[in-house]
Amino acid sequence: MGRMRELVVATTNKKKKKELVELLRGTGVDIITLDEFQASPRVREDKKTFRGNAVKKAVVISKFTNRLALAEDSGLEVMAMGGLPGVRSARFAGPSKNDAANIKKLLGMLQGVAGSKRKARFVCFAALADKGRLIKAVSGTVEGVISLEPKGRFGFGYDPVFYYPPLKKTFAQISASRKNRISHRFKALRKIKRILREDP
Ligand code: IMP
Repeated sequence: MGRMRELVVATTNKKKKKELVELLRGTGVDIITLDEFQASPRVREDKKTFRGNAVKKAVVISKFTNRLALAEDSGLEVMAMGGLPGVRSARFAGPSKNDAANIKKLLGMLQGVAGSKRKARFVCFAALADKGRLIKAVSGTVEGVISLEPKGRFGFGYDPVFYYPPLKKTFAQISASRKNRISHRFKALRKIKRILREDP
């Protein structure tokens, strides 16, 4: 058997990285992270779309590392807010990327908005690039409703207010392994895994 291919997972978000590594299990690639490189470029997420940011990161990092790289960009879209916070999900309440502050701002903006109008979805775009060349960008979404108050302690980001009707729980009330079978990230990564398996 030949050497295992190395895949650089390009994210600095520790909790997201954990989910990605978990989701890529069994793909037959050796996952390495940017921490293993002495210096790495800071890629600004300055595009207007999740896809744009994911592609930019994957291309830049794959070129820098001269390897296969996977990058993703994700966030929450609330229908009654015209798709906000969208690509600004992480910094919704300011540059500090504070989950609690983001949730507070979101709930404040939805005050008085009835349950039926609180529909939202998580969106994930994942991009795979090799040595500076984009291979493919794919997406996954999962639909839910923004709850009236945060519930649960698992997960990260907006999970405590993302109520998932089929399970009658928020994403922060379900285990990591369960979330990893229904999430937007799972759905996008499933497509990436298919590509990695097809292309030895
Ligand atoms: P990124 O790190 O720039 O892609 O920002 C993604 C942001 O979207 C996170 O900081 C969260 O606020 C939100 N987000 C993305 N995926 C999830 C998820 O699975 N659960 C909760 N929040 C998420």
